[in-house]
Formats: sequence, structure tokens, C-alpha cells
Amino acid sequence: MSEVMTTPAVVILLGPPGAGKGTQARMLQDRYGFVQLSTGDLLRAAVSQGTPAGLAAMAVMEAGGLVSDKIVLEILENRMAQPDIRAGVILDGFPRTDGQATALDGLLAASGMKISAAISLTVDDAAMIDRVAGRFTCAECGEGYHDTHKPVAVPGTCDKCGGRAFKRRPDDNADTARARLLAYHAETAPLIAHYRKAGVLQEIDAMGPIAEIAERLGEVLQRLAT
Ligand code: AP5
Repeated sequence: MSEVMTTPAVVILLGPPGAGKGTQARMLQDRYGFVQLSTGDLLRAAVSQGTPAGLAAMAVMEAGGLVSDKIVLEILENRMAQPDIRAGVILDGFPRTDGQATALDGLLAASGMKISAAISLTVDDAAMIDRVAGRFTCAECGEGYHDTHKPVAVPGTCDKCGGRAFKRRPDDNADTARARLLAYHAETAPLIAHYRKAGVLQEIDAMGPIAEIAERLGEVLQRLAT
């Protein structure tokens, strides 16, 4: 990000499950050197560590609902307090509610940072189900793949780290994916209007090949930097 912006940037990626937030955030991280911060990843880490927050979040995540603002904000604030964030951050899957958006404004104001852009990735609902149903990740480095849209080059081996173990998310089944989509439309989609009003909204058509969406995102970030 420092390549395109001179002040610490905060870029929000908004979009339904399967929009490509994680995929694009990792690519932007590699390209611009800022930090991808995914509340989904932070919550999954808390679940696997068995922390009190993780234990409270687990059932909600498996059902496809939204974890309480209290838990999410506590986890996010801890992560945002770490110094690497000053390189610029891409928020993947946060904020997701009005309360989280308000809390983020306060958190950034206190640390002298501000939102550079809230980028809304739009995808068809049908594509979203197909994308999450075929998703798998490297168990070692977390690189994301898809059975048909982004397969590994050598069967059984991660392209990025050479790892040979892969995993699938328990919430990537059709029923839970539909519940996640409902939660997105009810709680998160209204934030699009919020960020439009704040003058930071950018909308990107996220249908099409992964590399093409990355190009569109890169163009938006370059435009913001000039
Ligand atoms: P989270 O982990 O954030 O999941 P999500 O928002 O449902 O988003 P996904 O990770 O499913 O999709 P993505 O947009 O990142 O898509 P990806 O790039 O992986 O949250 C999980 C749960 O945690 C929530 O349900 C909730 O319970 C809780 N939670 C998290 N944050 C919270 C918060 N702030 N507040 C409250 N609760 C919270 O791509 C998907 C697949 O498609 C991949 O296989 C990829 O290879 C493929 N793909 C990507 N782009 C393309 C493309 N252009 N064409 C074809 N395939 C593509």
C-alpha cells in the first residue's frame, strides 16, 4: 500500500460470502505490503485455540449468524493495537454492522488513521454459493483455492508454500452459506449506503476471473493515490 498511498491506509472490503474478499485481500497484501486483517480468520483462530471468545463464537459461526459486536470488537482492537498496522491495513469482513462501523470510526480517530476507501465487491447470489462450496485452503500457509476456479497447479501441493495438507471450513455448506448470505443482506449491506454518504465508497463488479478483479481493485487504489 505504501507504493500507492503516503499515509497509513485503511481499506475496507465489503461483500457477501464468496465475493472474493479474502482472495483479493491476500493479493493486495502481497502487492502493496499492507496487513490483511480478517475478522473471520481471527475468530477461527480463537475457536481453534479454545479461548472464551472462540468458544462463544463457534456455534454462531457454524449456524451462519453474526458473532456479537462485543466479541468481534475486542478481538479486532487487540489486533489493531499491534505496530505492523501502521503500514496500512485492509479490513476483510469488518465492519459488518452499524455498531462495528461506529466503533471503527472511533478506533481510527484515536490512532490518527482514517478510511481511505470502502470497496464493495458485488457478486450474484448463485455464484456465491458455488464459490464457497468449492473453497479449500492450505493448512500451513492459509493460501486459498477453489476446486474449479483456482485449483492447485500440482495435485495435493500448495502452490505457495509446498504444503501438502488442506482444509475446508465447516460453515462452507449450502445451508450455512445461505444463512450467511441472509445475515449479509440484513446487517452488512446497509453499510454500503453508510460509506457512500461518507464519500469513501467504491463499487467493483466482482464477477469474472480472479486476476481481472485484482486489476479492477488495483486501478481503484491507484486512482485514490493520485
Ligand atoms: P468470514 O470468514 O469473513 O466469511 P465471509 O464473509 O462469509 O466471507 P468468505 O470468507 O466466505 O468469502 P470471501 O469473500 O472472503 O471469499 P474468498 O476470497 O474466500 O466470516 C465467517 C464467519 O465469522 C461469519 O459467518 C460470522 O459468523 C463470523 N464473522 C466474521 N467477521 C465478523 C464480523 N465482523 N462480525 C460478526 N461476525 C463475524 O473466495 C471464496 C472462494 O471463491 C475461494 O475458493 C476462491 O478461490 C473463489 N473465488 C474468489 N474470487 C473468485 C472469482 N472472481 N471467480 C471465481 N472464484 C473466485
